[in-house]
Amino acid sequence: MAIPAEVKQLSSELRTQLQEHNYRYYVLDDPSVPDAEYDRLFRELQALEAQYPELITPDSPTQRVGAEPLASFGQVRHTVPMLSLANAFAESEVLAFNRRICERLQKAGLQHAGIDYACEPKLDGLAVSILYIDGSLHQAATRGDGATGEDITQNVRTIPAVPLHLRGSDFPPVLEVRGEVYMPKAGFAALNQRAEQRGEKIFANPRNAAAGSLRQLDPKITATRPLAIFCYGIGQVDDMFAMPERHSELLACLKAWGLPVCPENKVVNGEQECLDFYAKLAQKRAQLPYEIDGVVYKVDRFDWQQTLGFVSRAPRWAVAHKFPAQEEMTQLVDVEFQVGRTGVLTPVARLQPVFVGGVTVSNATLHNMDEIARKDVRIGDTVIVRRAGDVIPEVVSSIKEKRPKNSREIVLPTQCPVCGSDVIRAEGEAAARCSGGLFCEAQRKEAIKHFASRKAMDIEGLGDKIVEQLVDEGLIRDVADIFVLRGSQLAALERMGDKSAENLVQAIAQSKQTTLARFLFALGIREVGEATAKNLSEHYGGLAAIMQADVEMLQTVSDVGPVVAQHIVAFFRQTHNQEVIAKLQAAGVQWEECDPAQKTVGPQPLDGQTYVLTGTLSSMTRDEAKAKLQALGAKVAGSVSKKTSAVVAGAEAGSKLTKAQDLGVDVLDEEAFLALLDKLSS
Ligand code: IVH
Repeated sequence: MAIPAEVKQLSSELRTQLQEHNYRYYVLDDPSVPDAEYDRLFRELQALEAQYPELITPDSPTQRVGAEPLASFGQVRHTVPMLSLANAFAESEVLAFNRRICERLQKAGLQHAGIDYACEPKLDGLAVSILYIDGSLHQAATRGDGATGEDITQNVRTIPAVPLHLRGSDFPPVLEVRGEVYMPKAGFAALNQRAEQRGEKIFANPRNAAAGSLRQLDPKITATRPLAIFCYGIGQVDDMFAMPERHSELLACLKAWGLPVCPENKVVNGEQECLDFYAKLAQKRAQLPYEIDGVVYKVDRFDWQQTLGFVSRAPRWAVAHKFPAQEEMTQLVDVEFQVGRTGVLTPVARLQPVFVGGVTVSNATLHNMDEIARKDVRIGDTVIVRRAGDVIPEVVSSIKEKRPKNSREIVLPTQCPVCGSDVIRAEGEAAARCSGGLFCEAQRKEAIKHFASRKAMDIEGLGDKIVEQLVDEGLIRDVADIFVLRGSQLAALERMGDKSAENLVQAIAQSKQTTLARFLFALGIREVGEATAKNLSEHYGGLAAIMQADVEMLQTVSDVGPVVAQHIVAFFRQTHNQEVIAKLQAAGVQWEECDPAQKTVGPQPLDGQTYVLTGTLSSMTRDEAKAKLQALGAKVAGSVSKKTSAVVAGAEAGSKLTKAQDLGVDVLDEEAFLALLDKLSS
């Protein structure tokens, strides 16, 4: 069937538009249309191609996944070898690298100081080479041994950020692009979560996940993996092509041709600016959406790169300045159990000290007994320890092959190691707890530390170490004792001068004037975090009402469910807690209460009812709607169940509306909701 000219025209326009949207999304990180619009154009092109299959070109955006699974990968010889980089770990090695370059250039009669370096993150993925012929993706390969790699064309085609056709018209007819395929951190987490739910293999890190995904013989599997790419160079290129003079200019060309280039790249001058770039990137590392393991410095001028040349299999003009490793191997010497504020026992690994993530680590968390079982860790094992950024070091896994014969099982103690009370493990809970409550010195210390902390009573200068000393010396037993401490008692503490003691006395006095929300949070009631404390304070306005509320009533407070409500009631029922609160108030701890008369104006019209909000309301925000419902006594929940009284459904309501309809729960549209508010508020 002959294809009408206007259909040809339309399909070509659609392809150009889709390519442009991809470019804005993946290369410029600045999409100009919502995803839905992209999907609409995509489906329109798919429909045309289905009707006129002759329209299909291999580089049509609809043709990413198509090929059948392979029996094995073919081999690809790299016309220009894929080299590796020399590593530098210490600053001195970077300085030596720069010095060598300056000297060589000087010998060659070229400039010798203040070299321009292109600085780039060292991406933690895997190197690929992608060959474009006349702008169309022709072949893609792994690095392999540098001379020969594997043909992964079908898999690379499935990566949405890899253009199937280059933009514009000034690209060389033969262009081999080199870059790093990686898996963004978020995609990696989602992939592993999915794998865990399905009982499939968990990947150790994003790099392994990216490598495993590219090594699939079935491209349909690769297509489901969240892969991305950043390009950092070229290999083979057409002879006729007028190369730019600098690496940074080449990267700008790659970008203009539609290839993603890392946005963190920057040209700097001289060694010191390289080190500054490294320090800044190290700071930023944890926030980046992808893993990096260092910085690559490259001499920016291509003519100088050529003069410098190569040594063995790495260029003299570049070096990878690595970050300290975040994972190391060491021996698990023993396990101790630490008792937290709510009595939770956390197994802590005592390790043969090891340098990891830039510091020496001798303790690492093992989280809980379930984690120990899952990771199959025993005392005496060689383990992998991870310390990333400011995160608490953790034992990631044990190396079974290195397990000694005399390794010992880690056993949960039956008695609290601090106070000797029974250790209880509630059914269905991963945590084991000491049942000693505030009788347990460990729990008492943690409770006091929490009480004094910044988001609670904010007592400046009353840090963890001082609390420990005060409890050890028997100067305080509970949080109320803080307010009767004398300057002379504090000054007598180790490492505490008169001036600091005086400052602390003042900070304690100042903290007495607080807010109800802070005070509630400071009490350390189980599951009552900052947000819940704030909700309770806003709902009741005063402490007495909260102390008197029962489990039912408490559940009318936003975000308070049956478990939290029970913890609150249990806390205030304890005589010990009532006494401490009375002591605190007697010592002068105070806050402004809202007029209780206003807060307890008898029953509210929506008492005992639970509403769910979904979709967008045109007349108010969701928070405003929530506040209005709560003011009328209703509880506002996040999900629909049989117990939901009604669902308020604004525009574009989704699954919650469907669920309400399925369960036969009342649904109010915006108009009906406004009418209800009107009726009940008057
Ligand atoms: S340039 C001749 N730039 O590091 C220079 N490599 O050890 C070749 N890598 O196989 C590579 N980020 O997988 C370069 N910005 C970057 C890089 C980078 C990561 C990897 C790449 C390469 C290995 C070299």
